[in-house]
Amino acid sequence: MGFLFAARGCVAAAALLCVILPCHAKLSTRFYARTCPNVEAIVRSVMAPAVAAEPRMGASIIRLFFHDCFVNGCDASILLDDTPTFTGEKNAGANVNSVRGYEVIDAIKARVEASCKATVSCADIVALAARDAVNLLRGPTWNVPLGRKDSRTATQSAANANLPGPGSSAASLVSAFAAKGLSAREMTALSGAHTVGRARCLFFRGRIYGETNINATFAAARRRTCPQAGGDGNLAPFDDRTPDAFDNAYYTNLVARRGLLHSDQELFNGGPQDALVRKYSGNGKIFAGDFAKAMVKMGGLMPAAGTPTEVRLNCRKVN
Ligand code: HEM
Repeated sequence: MGFLFAARGCVAAAALLCVILPCHAKLSTRFYARTCPNVEAIVRSVMAPAVAAEPRMGASIIRLFFHDCFVNGCDASILLDDTPTFTGEKNAGANVNSVRGYEVIDAIKARVEASCKATVSCADIVALAARDAVNLLRGPTWNVPLGRKDSRTATQSAANANLPGPGSSAASLVSAFAAKGLSAREMTALSGAHTVGRARCLFFRGRIYGETNINATFAAARRRTCPQAGGDGNLAPFDDRTPDAFDNAYYTNLVARRGLLHSDQELFNGGPQDALVRKYSGNGKIFAGDFAKAMVKMGGLMPAAGTPTEVRLNCRKVN
């Protein structure tokens, strides 16, 4: 009896802690071993042709996972469409006209539902798809702990508050990740995802016209397609040498002062992250290992205790 009471007390204390601190879920790589043994193969069967057809899609899916996990945990909240009576995360500042890949997740979900009805959460699909995206772009792979649930709600204001912006200082990046239980080292490793993908001119214009900690040839090249006025949506690769390869070039670029966003170059600007950036730039294996571990840890962020969840049947709307 006393034991039961104490156990209940522990559960209650853990739940209370989840309200105060970011929570990490108890997940398992074998979660669907009996209920949907082919889920990983199905996810890969959609991701492989999608990335082959458009390598940037791999980058977009990696980012989708980050933007899901940083807002109320990895709960597929980002996938909910706005309706006349509901405003979710899709149109938050960092997501609108920017986050891509929703159709690829829909295609995976449709195939998964056809094999295993009402079993696999959209949040787990995003986590698997992000892992595959990294690997299909020739980066590392890892086992993905599974068992997430999908939220029944989402908040635009939380997305606006939690996702770091491209003008961030190193200190504010450290604190944005610390708020999610991620260390400065994990933040620096996760930022290495900017070795693939593209950014719009409006996000790096200030850097290429106004900053001094930037390679002059690189700045001149970027200015050619990102004018001082207009062209906000013009894209540039984060890494202009191997734009679609998940390698450690992000860090060699930073050391060469060829970081695209202000926030990127902040990680190599005479501050405390410089040594780690140098280490990753000199050793792609260490980066790949740290990145994989940090993705698993970020993937363990879960919604605050008490958030209603389910396994959504259609990732865009609640059941
Ligand atoms: C450290 C703070 C971060 C900031 C300030 C930041 C900011 C940005 C911005 C402004 C863009 C360009 C968006 C656009 O032009 O529409 C972008 C793209 C991207 N971000 Fe981040 N990001 C951060 C961290 C991360 C993390 C942790 C990941 C993944 C683990 C990530 C993955 C990506 C990828 C892959 C792209 C390219 C997406 C594509 O081409 O569709 N970012 N990020």
